[in-house]
Amino acid sequence: MKTILIGTMALCVATTSLFAETQLIELKTQTMSFKYTVDHKQALHLESVGAVDGQWESPLEGALFTATPCRLGNSPRFISPLEIVTDDGSSGIELIYQSHELDESHADYTHLTITLRDQLHPISVELHQQAYLNEDTIVQWLVLNNGLASPIQVPRLDSLYLRADAKEDIYLEWYGSNEYYTAGRPFREKLNMGTRLLESRDGNRHKAGPIPAFVLGFGEQPNETSGVCMIAALEWPGSSRFSFEITEPHRSRDLELSVGVNQSQAPILEAGESMTTPRAIYSFSPDGIGRASRNLHRFARTHLLPGGDRLRPIDNNSWEGCQMDVNEASIIQMMKDSAGLGIELYVLDDGWFGNGVDARVSAGIGLGDWEFNVERFPNGLDNVMQAAKELGIEFGIWFEPEMVCRQSKLYREHPEWVMLHPGRKGAEQRGQLVLDVANPDVQAFMFKVVDDMLCAYPEIRYIKWDANSNINNPYSPYLGADRQGNMINAYNEGYLSVMQRLIEKHPTVDFMACAAGGGRANMGVIRYSHTFWPSDATNPAYRLSAQWNFSRFMPPLTITGHVTHAGGEAFTPKFRFDVSMMGQLGMEVDTRTCSAEYMEASRVGIAAYKEVRPIVQQGDQYRHAHPSDSGTPSMNFVSKDAASALVLAYHTTDVREPTQFNAPVSGLDPERLYTLTEINLPESDAQARVAQSAPVTQTGAEWMQSGIPLLFTRQYDSAAVLLK
Ligand code: DGJ
Repeated sequence: MKTILIGTMALCVATTSLFAETQLIELKTQTMSFKYTVDHKQALHLESVGAVDGQWESPLEGALFTATPCRLGNSPRFISPLEIVTDDGSSGIELIYQSHELDESHADYTHLTITLRDQLHPISVELHQQAYLNEDTIVQWLVLNNGLASPIQVPRLDSLYLRADAKEDIYLEWYGSNEYYTAGRPFREKLNMGTRLLESRDGNRHKAGPIPAFVLGFGEQPNETSGVCMIAALEWPGSSRFSFEITEPHRSRDLELSVGVNQSQAPILEAGESMTTPRAIYSFSPDGIGRASRNLHRFARTHLLPGGDRLRPIDNNSWEGCQMDVNEASIIQMMKDSAGLGIELYVLDDGWFGNGVDARVSAGIGLGDWEFNVERFPNGLDNVMQAAKELGIEFGIWFEPEMVCRQSKLYREHPEWVMLHPGRKGAEQRGQLVLDVANPDVQAFMFKVVDDMLCAYPEIRYIKWDANSNINNPYSPYLGADRQGNMINAYNEGYLSVMQRLIEKHPTVDFMACAAGGGRANMGVIRYSHTFWPSDATNPAYRLSAQWNFSRFMPPLTITGHVTHAGGEAFTPKFRFDVSMMGQLGMEVDTRTCSAEYMEASRVGIAAYKEVRPIVQQGDQYRHAHPSDSGTPSMNFVSKDAASALVLAYHTTDVREPTQFNAPVSGLDPERLYTLTEINLPESDAQARVAQSAPVTQTGAEWMQSGIPLLFTRQYDSAAVLLK
């Protein structure tokens, strides 16, 4: 093992000195370098972040752990990634450098640990950074060690804290699950004096807040191909807090950025114990968001996602077509129809469980009673699984294990498992309450219900894990009166530990994370889930933007795009399929009520997707104009070996007469010859979109120069073009 351990006693061993008393610490990927210095007072500074070869530099720099008491004179009182309160009520903490260690023994990454200690108390902080060499991606977290003989409160322990010289403007871009008023629009803003705070307070998800990720542009608002920028995401499913503060100390202008868990009460760290933050994952690009996104996609596929290298199956899910009205006969019928379309997996959604008065026939009833409804599924899944086998398709089933309805056996048997403030009735969301997932007995229950199902029916290939309520009654009976501050951490760590156990025990099962839509779309969740559900709004015009926004951070194979009937006649099946193809394609239709034309278009769309699936799910994505910025948004994917590419182009605005549009293409091998074929042209909508004048075969360089000439004839028109 090649580890370099450097402490205050051995400063001269393997460090470069800037000045006699200053030492330099450097962490590198293949192309990027992160430099720290330790000054003569042993304070830690970020020196620079930029290219190894000096081709570009970010404005990131500055002292990292501001002390309390604060000796900054007229400067603003900077925040710090850390705030603590000791049992005497003091918030004093003065962290100085103690040692660092650069572990280069891993093939994929270099791990830097910098340890700082308080000048008074036996309290230390470790800053961990892993630089993933090939993906140009950094993973970072903090560990706080309480060596005192008494507990401390920890109001803030952030995963990522950075400062930057903000003399040149800094631009923020972020996204929410905004389905209505600003539907799917990205939020772009120039950071001004003061604090810009993005936070979610939902507890277990971020349905009502921003997705925990952002883009920062240095000196200009970055687009896909220009601007020095940083892209970052928090690997955490619960409440999060991102603060961006611009101040003007002396003659400078400064940005402070801090990213972490959003605590509503301070957690307690017991004597002798440690607290670890979630990981922040980030990357940089000298030339726009596209490159940084591809870094994150590659990182997630290789180092984060379970089964990141396996193709996700094409599913049909019962929800949008049937809601809770499901039974053995209807499911078998829809499975048959689906198999005929080329669907590979059928998912039985909500409505299969609960009995008697607790039968799950509508929201507000039955959650928690994970037993088959004997009227709807008298044979459990025996006949359904047999039918799946005969049809040659796989099967998946829906759960919502963190939740309970008052109208359920589980609630009557275990009222102490429910999060509720003592003495208060509590607020319900969708007629349900949240279980106290901080409680290990609840975790054991959640694991058991899903595990029992997978053991009873080992052929099940997919679990949809839903979560439709925020933590609206934030009180954990398990943690008791003096440890409520630990609830957000304990809940989410409990949830993640159950997911981890399930994917480890059932490695061939795909888990889909859902929370009434995009509330479970984050890096924390996809570490233990194969895909996620971006939104219950499946109207393809909205989905085009929403899926696009998620693809800034999340790899396309995780983003489920389901073809439905939402939005009605305004959208042809072809357009729906072309939109869903940009991620993991699936459907949510009741096949018994679909028109023959819709079924035929579905067969063609599914066959087309099968042809390009490895390019979308394992290749590199190049987005071009965003749907909010252009009436002709488009993107292309290039396969890992650059032998093939898929171009997806859309026309979303009104078309009065045939409109020509040249869809851009990027990332091809300039020397290689590629031949064009237009795909996904169902009989009912068979007119070619590729212009007759388009070349058929030319080199990658020529395609990238010419683009793909297309002709659109209506609003919500689209084209899918394969280059091979
Ligand atoms: C909300 C999800 O987003 C839907 O897809 C569906 O699973 C319902 N819950 C079921 O109740």
